[in-house]
This record gives sequence, structure tokens and C-alpha cells, in this order.
Amino acid sequence: MPSLTKARIAFVIAIGLLVACALVVYGTLRGLNESEIRVQHAQQVQVLLGELESAIASAARARLTYVFSGNDDSLNQYQTAVARIPAKLSELRQSVKDEPIQLSYCDKLEHLVTTRIELWEKSVALKRSGAPEPAGQPDLTRQSVMFAEEIISVTQTMRDEESNQLAGRRTAAGFNFFLTNAILVVSFIAAVWLLFWHYRLQRAELIARERAEKETLAAAQAAQLAENKARAAEKSALASHEAARHLSARLLHLQDEERRRLSRELHDSTGQHLAAAKMVLSSLTMSQPNDRRYAECMELLDRSLREIRTISHLLHPSGLEEAGFSTSARWYVEEFAKRSNTEIRVDIAELPERLPREVELALFRVLQEGLANIHRHAKSRSAEVEFRLEGAQLALEIRDHGVGIAPEMLEQFRSAAVFGVGLAGIRERVRDLGGTFNVDSNGEGTRLRVTIPAPQSAASRAGTEPFRKGSSPGLNS
Ligand SMILES: Nc1ncnc2c1ncn2[C@@H]1O[C@H](COP(=O)(O)OP(=O)(O)O)[C@@H](O)[C@H]1O
Ligand SMILES: [Mg+2]
Repeated sequence: MPSLTKARIAFVIAIGLLVACALVVYGTLRGLNESEIRVQHAQQVQVLLGELESAIASAARARLTYVFSGNDDSLNQYQTAVARIPAKLSELRQSVKDEPIQLSYCDKLEHLVTTRIELWEKSVALKRSGAPEPAGQPDLTRQSVMFAEEIISVTQTMRDEESNQLAGRRTAAGFNFFLTNAILVVSFIAAVWLLFWHYRLQRAELIARERAEKETLAAAQAAQLAENKARAAEKSALASHEAARHLSARLLHLQDEERRRLSRELHDSTGQHLAAAKMVLSSLTMSQPNDRRYAECMELLDRSLREIRTISHLLHPSGLEEAGFSTSARWYVEEFAKRSNTEIRVDIAELPERLPREVELALFRVLQEGLANIHRHAKSRSAEVEFRLEGAQLALEIRDHGVGIAPEMLEQFRSAAVFGVGLAGIRERVRDLGGTFNVDSNGEGTRLRVTIPAPQSAASRAGTEPFRKGSSPGLNS
């Protein structure tokens, strides 16, 4: 049983015992009070018996005096004393009305007293009649004396009875008093012991609680410390992640610059040299029309020029700077569709104004990467490219119906564990411009969706001026 429950039980029992003590004390006091009343009652009965005896004795004496002297005063005294006797008898009867034995003695006493009074009355009447002296008086007096003895015997019995009852009550009261004292002492000691036990249990509980609280506090402090450490670690991880992101963005930017430089170099220098070589060769071809080798050289130079132009364009789409994103994108998709033999549905909106250079370049790189991935990984025969202004956002969506990205690869990409290349490169470019990049992929295909905040002027002009829908190449193959 838990110690707290034990303590509660001990406390309740202790309180119960104390209440019982209080009740016992109350009962004892009541008993004492009753005993007191009883003693008073016994005394009252004794007094009444005494008064009755005294009234009877007075009457007897007055009757005797009257019989001997014929004195009227004695007759008066006799009559007064006799008149008191019924009243005293009735008082006595009243005071013992709850005691059947005493009541029966009362009846007997009353009978004896009445009979004796009748004798006295006869004696008095005899005296009054003036009959020759005293024929029946001695006999009457003798009878009266006999009754007197019986009356005394009855009153004595009543006194004894009263004393016996009193003694019985005293013995019972003494025993009760002893018992009460014993109960009180035992209960009190038990209550004190229980209260002490209760105190000890409560104290033990309190100490245990304090210890537990201290331990909890220590654990909380340790947890707080660990949390602080974890936070610090998280902060530094975030900081290094941020630094890596910045580095990655910077690398992308440098890569763009380098590609632009290479592209210009190829176009302006190598391209020009090849063009010059072609011009020289064409004059030589005209002077030697029968030599096939010149024509072959011409063809090789033409192919090299085309490839240089393509590579230069892929490295940095020069048309992008002149024609803008929508036109270049349309041209690029068309070329890609032709080269990769993929059906591509294009829906590219023409914007009312040019976008900032970095936005156009970012959108173009997204398009390039998306299409390159379709060609390299998707194994899809068809795809869709859509570009439009949605409210204040430029939205570019590229969809294919190929094999989809492997889930673990998607997870790796989503956990932001990779930087800089392919899809991760797109994400950083877009994030740098305050946009969003979502990749959805399953076994039925892949959807890349990029949104970039449109420059305010483009967004507000688009609200008033309807888009010119670009001349879509439609379905290419
Ligand atoms: N459209 C796609 N369809 C199927 N798989 C794709 C697609 N795009 C990307 N992937 C998968 O995701 C991987 C990561 O793509 P990416 O970041 O562009 O890197 P890379 O193209 O250099 O491999 C690819 O290696 C490929 O397995
Ligand atoms: Mg790729």
C-alpha cells in the first residue's frame, strides 16, 4: 500500500478515536449527572418518609392526648396532623412513581395508614360520644400500636430499598467510571500514536517528493543544456548550409560568366577564323574545280562552323540577350525536339516587356536542364513546356511522361543534401531570385515547376494589356 494512503488511513483512525473519546467523555458526564439526580431523589424519598412518619407520630400523639385529656386543642392538633398524612402519602407516591417495587410498598403503606386512621377515628368518636370510660379505647390503642409497628417496618423497607438501589447504582457507576477511564486512556494513546505515525509517513513522503523534484529539476536542467547544445549545433549547421548555398550560387554565377566568355571566344574568334578559312578555301575551290578534296574541306569547315555555333549557343544563348526569353525558348525547344526526336507541345506566352537578364538566364537554364533530363533519363516520347505570367509570378512548367525520378533520388534532392548540379542547381538559381521550385515525379512521369516573382512593371502591364500568345511551334517531332 502506498505510504500516502497509509498516512491518510492513520489520520482518519486517529481523528475517529479522538471523536470517540469526546463521545465517551460526554457519556460519562451525563452518567455523573444522572447519578447526582439519583442521589438527590433517594434523599428526597428519605425526607418524605421522615415527614410521613412524623405526621403519623404527631397524629398518634395528639389522639392519645385527646383520649386521655378530652382537650379540644389536642383534638385540633390531631385533626391537623391527620389532614397532612394523605398529602405526604401522595407526595411519596409521586416521587417513586418510576419504581414499581416502591409503588407496591406505597400501596401497602397507604392501606396500613388508612386502617390506622380509621382506628383513630373510631377512638376519637368514642371519646366524643362520652360513653362510660373507656370501654374500647385500650383495645383500639393496642391495635393502633400494632399498625404503627407494621408501618415502621414498611417505611424501613422502603428506605432500605432506596439505599440498595443507590448502592447498586454507585457500584455500576464506579465500574463505568473505571471502564471509561480505561477506554479514554487506550484511545488517547492510540490516537497520539497514530498521529505520530501519520506525521512520520507524511514527512517521509515530503522528503521523497522534494528529492524527486530536485531530480526532475536536475533532469530538466540537463535537458535544457542538451537542447541548447542541439540548438547551437543546428545553428552552426544552418550557417554552414547557408555558406554552402552561397558558395554554390557564386559558383553557378562564375560558371555562367565562364560559359559566356567561352561562347563569345568560340563565336567571335574561332568562328571568325573558320569563316575566314572558308572564304580562302572557296577562292581555292574556284581555281581548282576538279579537285574533290577542296569540296570535302569546305564541307568539314561548314560542319565545324555549325557545331561551333551550336556549342557557343548552348554555352550562352546569344539570342537570349537579343530576342528575350520567350523567343529563344521557343527556338530552343524546337531545335531540341528535332534533335532528340521528341514530341513537345509548347505554350510559351510573350511578355509585354523584357525581363531582367538574370531572370531570363535562370529561366533558360531551367528549360535547358529540364529538357536535357528528359532526353537523358526520362525515356519519354512526348513532353510539354508551358510558360506564363500567373498574377505576380512567372511560371515555367516542364512535363514528361517517362519513367520518373527514383524515389530515393527524389528524397535526396528534397532533403537538400546536394548542391550545384542539375536539379539542385535549378533550385539554387530560383531561390536566389526569390522563387520556388517543385519537382513531382512518379512512375508515370515528371513535372518541374518553377515560379519567380515577376518584375512589378511586367505584372502591372500584364493586368491592362493582354498577352500576345507566342507563335507556338505546336507539336514538334
Ligand atoms: N525527367 C526525368 N525523368 C527521369 N529521371 C530523372 C528526370 N530528371 C532527373 N532524373 C533523375 O534525377 C537524377 C538527378 O538529375 P540531375 O540533378 O539533373 O542530375 P544529372 O542529370 O546530372 O544526373 C538523374 O540522375 C536522374 O536519375
Ligand atoms: Mg541533369
